[in-house]
Amino acid sequence: MDPNTLRALFPIFERQVRGQSIAYLDNAATTHKPRCVLEAIQRHYAEHNANVHRAAHLLSQEASLAYDAARKTAAGFLNAASPSEIVFVRGATEGINLVAYSFLRARLAPGDEILLTLTEHHSNIVPWQLLAQQTGACLQVVGVDAQGDLLWEDFEQKLSQKTRLFALVHVSNAIGVRHPVKKLIARAHAQGVPVLLDACQSVPHGPVDVQDLDADFLVFSGHKVFGPTGIGVLYAKKAHLDAMLPYQSGGGMVEHVTFEHTRFRPAPERFEAGTPNICGAIALAEALRFYKQIATPAAFAHEEALIQALLEGLRSLPGLRIIGNPRERVGLVSFCLEGIHAHDVDTLLDHQSAVAIRSGHHCAQPLMRHFGLTSSVRASVSFYNTLEDIHRLLEGLLKVRMRLG
Ligand code: ALA
Repeated sequence: MDPNTLRALFPIFERQVRGQSIAYLDNAATTHKPRCVLEAIQRHYAEHNANVHRAAHLLSQEASLAYDAARKTAAGFLNAASPSEIVFVRGATEGINLVAYSFLRARLAPGDEILLTLTEHHSNIVPWQLLAQQTGACLQVVGVDAQGDLLWEDFEQKLSQKTRLFALVHVSNAIGVRHPVKKLIARAHAQGVPVLLDACQSVPHGPVDVQDLDADFLVFSGHKVFGPTGIGVLYAKKAHLDAMLPYQSGGGMVEHVTFEHTRFRPAPERFEAGTPNICGAIALAEALRFYKQIATPAAFAHEEALIQALLEGLRSLPGLRIIGNPRERVGLVSFCLEGIHAHDVDTLLDHQSAVAIRSGHHCAQPLMRHFGLTSSVRASVSFYNTLEDIHRLLEGLLKVRMRLG
């Protein structure tokens, strides 16, 4: 679909920001929502609202069917072997915490190791760090080179008899590097090490097939792929889920309760205590269907063309440093303007040009430190962006340079 036709499906693009249409290049933080997703939310609350799996009345039946269908849609989206391998969570962060506490905690002894990479988002560092502190385990971190590519030898060296889990990002939210995850997973498995993949930034830019990758666990957040906030997916192989303890407990996840003993429901319900985010799951399913429809090879080629135009334009600007130059880059570019703070670039781009980008450490402080930075500017694209958005950013940067440089 032509990006301008696609934009017409997103009500937010009808709005003016500071008297102009918005050039929205902050898609790695969150994408906008198409009308069909907004309508799915409205329809659920206006026509089918009820709690799920608790009552026999019609509304509850309808809500339960829609919620179960959403799980099936999410499973199909990731090519999971079964919907029972899909746990609805608040987002990727909750998915990672769930794996940390329900899967790994019981498997850790003092001296064990959790393997990460230098390119992780804080959400794939801090939960493991806390777990390590509680269990006497420690973190090992695979380094990257000056371009942002993982150091394979370092990975080989740090993957050891003591490694209990390898948790890594598929595509970095800070520099856009895509790691060769299939190869990494196969190597970790050869050592008997399970792998968790943070797919937040890969899912919106290409097919992700959990069976093909052979990932043990995979998380993504709905709001980065045209869905609402507050809903995300944890995929886990059935054998792992069946062996895991509940993460939270309460109603909806139990079969039988006495004051002495509780028998839990099987996975995935065992991991969804309390009333779930019913509407969120239903709207996420709508978003995933929408995404599948628009995510044609031409759409991916369009995103790639936007990134190439952006890189070319940035390279022609004096005093601009692009952060990393990975072999495979997906969806975004981070950069710095010499002598100008990233937050000032962000503010001026917004005020002068209605260009929305992100500035800061991108919740990836260890990686930023590797590049000798505390912050950068990041532009990230989606299918609905146009070359005009890229040109507006580049012209905006020239204006920022003239004003502050
Ligand atoms: N993790 C999101 C980002 O990279 C919020 O902006």
